[in-house]
Amino acid sequence: MSRPRIVVTGGIPTAGLDLLREHGDVWAWDGDGPIPTDVRDEQLSRADAAVTLLTDRVDDAFLDAAPNVQVVANVAVGYNNIDVDACRKRGVTVTNTPDVLTDATADIAMALVLMVTRRLGEGERLIRSGEAWKWGMFMMLGSGIQGKRLGLIGMGAIGQATAERARAFGMTIAYHNRSRVAPDVEQRLGAELLSLDELLATSDVVSLHCPYTPDTHHLIDAAALERMRTSAYLVNTARGPVVDEAALVEALRSGGIAGAGLDVFEHEPEVHPGLLDLDNAVLVPHLGSATVETRDAMAVLAARNVAAVLAGDDPVTPVT
Ligand code: DGY
Repeated sequence: MSRPRIVVTGGIPTAGLDLLREHGDVWAWDGDGPIPTDVRDEQLSRADAAVTLLTDRVDDAFLDAAPNVQVVANVAVGYNNIDVDACRKRGVTVTNTPDVLTDATADIAMALVLMVTRRLGEGERLIRSGEAWKWGMFMMLGSGIQGKRLGLIGMGAIGQATAERARAFGMTIAYHNRSRVAPDVEQRLGAELLSLDELLATSDVVSLHCPYTPDTHHLIDAAALERMRTSAYLVNTARGPVVDEAALVEALRSGGIAGAGLDVFEHEPEVHPGLLDLDNAVLVPHLGSATVETRDAMAVLAARNVAAVLAGDDPVTPVT
């Protein structure tokens, strides 16, 4: 019997590729930039499994090119790049990589909370500018976070891990989620469930941890920003289009909110030009899961999912 063919649409860590090679013949795109569609489609036409990245769009066109693909293993926890219904209709299993990136992403969320409230980006830029500076009692004063409220929108694993970190920094926790989390989790985190409006109006820092779906598109729009305190900060490590970036620029410019820490952007990799000029915006290039350990673990988990489906077993982390 011939070995299954596995197509990997972009660079993934060797640990994942090695595991995939144990289960099939692997072809991986290793060119510069995104895989050209004609190359991708040619490879997919002979593939039994596809390993995809969040920059791939897995839609009808992708699936049309991949008539024998049994599984699309996305190397990301988010899967808004995948038309899950279209996959389901064709009997294609979709998997993602939850849990293994929880800590890394929560670390970045907390780092952004600290960076934006303590003006660390501005401070770094000042030093690097070569401009003269000297210590002063009123120089670059930020805002302390002890005793302040962190409002989490989305209280899955990453939201909860961010809450744990924020608690260690002395913050109190409120959250808004589709459903209430278990009472022991609420108790452990001292977390209070609030309506979205209440959370926006009473939080000192609002941090986004919800998936990107049609329901969360522009969840943070001009009206939501208007509800936030002028002293409040917004942190986004979820997905860019959860925030209306033009409205955010306006709120940051006009003093509607105090600052924003962003790891993701509405039209990634493009960044709204208005954000680039704003000292109260901390901008990092989608680094949520970017540690060596985490990316290895994500690639290995994706490979385990491929192996399971090709063997006729249940995937480890299916998207349901
Ligand atoms: C994910 O896994 O969805 C992250 O955005 C990748 O960093």
